[in-house]
Amino acid sequence: MKNQELKNRDLEVLWHPCTQMKDHETLPLTPIKKAYGVYLEDFEGNKFIDAVSSWWVNIFGHTNPYINEKIKEQLDTLEHVILAGFTHEPVVKLSERLVKLTPDGLEKCFYSDNGSSAVEVALKMSFHAHKNDGKVAKDIFVSLTNSYHGETIGALSVGDVELYKQTYEPLLLKTIQTAVPADMSIEAARKAASEFEELCRERSTEISAIILEPLIQGAGYMHMYHPEFLVLVRDICTKYDVHLIADEVMVGFGRTGELFACEHANITPDFIILSKGLTGGYLPLSVVLTTNEIYAKLYCDYGEHKAFLHSHSYTGNALACAAANATLDIFENDNVIEQNRVTAKYMGEKLLKFKELENVASVRQTGMICVVELKGYTPEERIGLKVYAHGLKNGVLIRPLGHIVYFMPPYIITDKEIDKMMDTAYEAIKGL
Ligand SMILES: Cc1ncc(COP(=O)(O)O)c(C=O)c1O
Repeated sequence: MKNQELKNRDLEVLWHPCTQMKDHETLPLTPIKKAYGVYLEDFEGNKFIDAVSSWWVNIFGHTNPYINEKIKEQLDTLEHVILAGFTHEPVVKLSERLVKLTPDGLEKCFYSDNGSSAVEVALKMSFHAHKNDGKVAKDIFVSLTNSYHGETIGALSVGDVELYKQTYEPLLLKTIQTAVPADMSIEAARKAASEFEELCRERSTEISAIILEPLIQGAGYMHMYHPEFLVLVRDICTKYDVHLIADEVMVGFGRTGELFACEHANITPDFIILSKGLTGGYLPLSVVLTTNEIYAKLYCDYGEHKAFLHSHSYTGNALACAAANATLDIFENDNVIEQNRVTAKYMGEKLLKFKELENVASVRQTGMICVVELKGYTPEERIGLKVYAHGLKNGVLIRPLGHIVYFMPPYIITDKEIDKMMDTAYEAIKGL
């Protein structure tokens, strides 16, 4: 009863993200009353395993008792304060910890509210640092083919997924795309890196930075590549004075098997962008970390147009920082990365079974992300939607990207829940 009532009220007043609203004429909304652990629950007591970690943000489960407690503590002390000219304990503590945890050499934290706005920050900082250095011609950004960095105008400009970008093309910045490695082999990594080097050889005086998603292109259909690409790109960037921006919005905080994906290649980018898992999936917060060298280029006397004048009202929000500190406490106190390796191994074993199905082209995995790629369908068949509907009917939130069915659950998922999640998807794919 309440389920239906909420759906009706919703459709009167809401416009949902990433949705053709007309689809809701046939595909019902799912009202959620409460959530705990890996489960979402509606008003009739139906439970759904959150196999997408609520858009890749949740890592330690919904309403996690420890994170809840820490946010409640913060709520009674300080909810928010302007971060220009003022500071507070949670934001300083979080910054100290992030500087320690991220690759060596990243020393300064700049906060914002979401992944896209942090991408904008990193692009502007890169351009501004070069400009203050007298390199005014460096006004073009390079990104990888098939990349996704968010949907604000600047972030969309460096993206390359047609679905999101095509309509808005006339509004976007001019950018260059260089090839992402075609597959997970080291040869593909080397080939793509040499293409990027060729581009730098010709145009590095115009290129401010390359932005990339280390190891996995999330919204780019979970395309995966070898860490050697990162090693080579790091060297090329240094050689040609091009900044390297690592967008770890999706892959950061343990998803790939290390705390940060850049660790697989043992590199330090000039900027790292973090969001999503940063607050355990509780509150909007993002951060760009950069080097003291770049910071120094924007540190000068007032009035020279050299200061980085970028701001968002909720920058460094105290509640979000408290959630982030609680999240880092869990990483510090529990053996999360080790435990993830065990969980990932179990998911990987179950993944092999999908290869038996004749409509499965391939499977792949990096850390806590498993992917089943389907074959033989046209986009008009909307098979992703069919898998999604089957999942909901059977208690699992699976949200395919077109013909890509993926599993990206909160890290606390148990083997039994993995069985349920993957068996449900298996049945959905088999029944297509
Ligand atoms: C790699 C990457 N960068 C940036 C973003 C944008 O983040 P947000 O949706 O918080 O703006 C996303 C979102 O999925 C992402 O996956």
